[in-house]
Amino acid sequence: MGDKLRFGILGCGVIGPHHARAITSLDDAEVVAVADVVPERARKLASEYGCRWYNDLSDLLSSATPDVVCICTPSGMHARNAVAVLEAGKDVVVEKPIDVTLEAADQLISAQRATGRKVAVISQHRFDPATQAVRDAAESGRFGRLTSGSAEVRWWRSQSYYDSGGWRGTWELDGGGVLINQAIHSIDLLQWLMGPVVEVTAYTGLLAHERIEVEDTAVAILRFASGAIGNIVATTAAYPGLTARITVHGDHGSAVIDDDKLDYFHIASNGDAGADYGAGGSGNQAEKVMEEYGATTSSPGAGADPGSLSMAHRDQIQDFIEAIREDREPLVNAEEGRKALAIILGTYESARTGKPVRIQE
Ligand SMILES: NC(=O)c1ccc[n+]([C@@H]2O[C@H](COP(=O)([O-])OP(=O)(O)OC[C@H]3O[C@@H](n4cnc5c(N)ncnc54)[C@H](O)[C@@H]3O)[C@@H](O)[C@H]2O)c1
Repeated sequence: MGDKLRFGILGCGVIGPHHARAITSLDDAEVVAVADVVPERARKLASEYGCRWYNDLSDLLSSATPDVVCICTPSGMHARNAVAVLEAGKDVVVEKPIDVTLEAADQLISAQRATGRKVAVISQHRFDPATQAVRDAAESGRFGRLTSGSAEVRWWRSQSYYDSGGWRGTWELDGGGVLINQAIHSIDLLQWLMGPVVEVTAYTGLLAHERIEVEDTAVAILRFASGAIGNIVATTAAYPGLTARITVHGDHGSAVIDDDKLDYFHIASNGDAGADYGAGGSGNQAEKVMEEYGATTSSPGAGADPGSLSMAHRDQIQDFIEAIREDREPLVNAEEGRKALAIILGTYESARTGKPVRIQE
């Protein structure tokens, strides 16, 4: 390993400080500068980490000479901020979503290709042990033929959450509501576990909030390229807020991830589905499977606890550092980050038009 990689952070609101904590928890990375249009936020974060602070990206890039910049600004600014970083010859970590339109995502992908720099789009739950276990099982065909899968996010966000930032709940800068801001994590995992989504049919509604332009509740039906079918149920209008749950089912096994933990896992023994009838879930193998991943069924993923959120980011940033050092692609590069966005935008189009929508590759 060479010297520590020098990180800058753009945007010091809710998520910027998690990036700072994740970066400084790694041996071979340091935060050298932060920037925010609100000077007080930048100054405060800089004082916690003993680094420099600026009011904008261009000063951060020219004065602090970081190797990598984390983009933690409102979603509709991500691609333009990231392209500026790439064009300055630096690598970039972009918070989710990659941006709010496919045009912007494609501009970022083009800039990445033109500059040859590296891009990671945050999807920190791909690094949870539960997700890794289910992905390995699905990829190696241990669930048999995949038949259905679901992503269900039944959360609550108060009106004051939406009122806390002028960009929240706007089409221009949030890009939508619960689907693109909250459920995107589960949607990305569902497509990573089940394979590409080819078509979506959806309904959305704004049911429990005011002064926002976007949906707080959505239901979608999905068709996967494999022929499997699935669904998304996503809401920030389910008081008091329940869990985020992902299920994967095949003709030889099933798995359920609940709030980032492996809640249920079963694979038929000897590849034989055995019983003629089944219901209720038998022979939960989750604890045993988690042992193989050095974790338990109660190991934290990246839940609501602020500490664990930073730690899940740490795993993804560690992957990014290794990708830079080894000159390989990070697990979630720009093309990977685009996939969840394409599904979400297809969902909005279907809800708007009342018709099934093909997902744009
Ligand atoms: N991965 C996750 O779990 C996770 C969690 C929360 C937020 N996010 C994402 O992080 C992004 C930011 O969300 P947040 O909740 O931190 O929002 P926020 O409003 O709390 O913070 C955004 C910050 O960016 C600053 N900013 C705006 N324009 C700027 C500019 N041109 N230059 C510099 N700074 C600028 C704002 O002043 C603000 O401090 C969003 O895209 C969101 O989707 C991801």
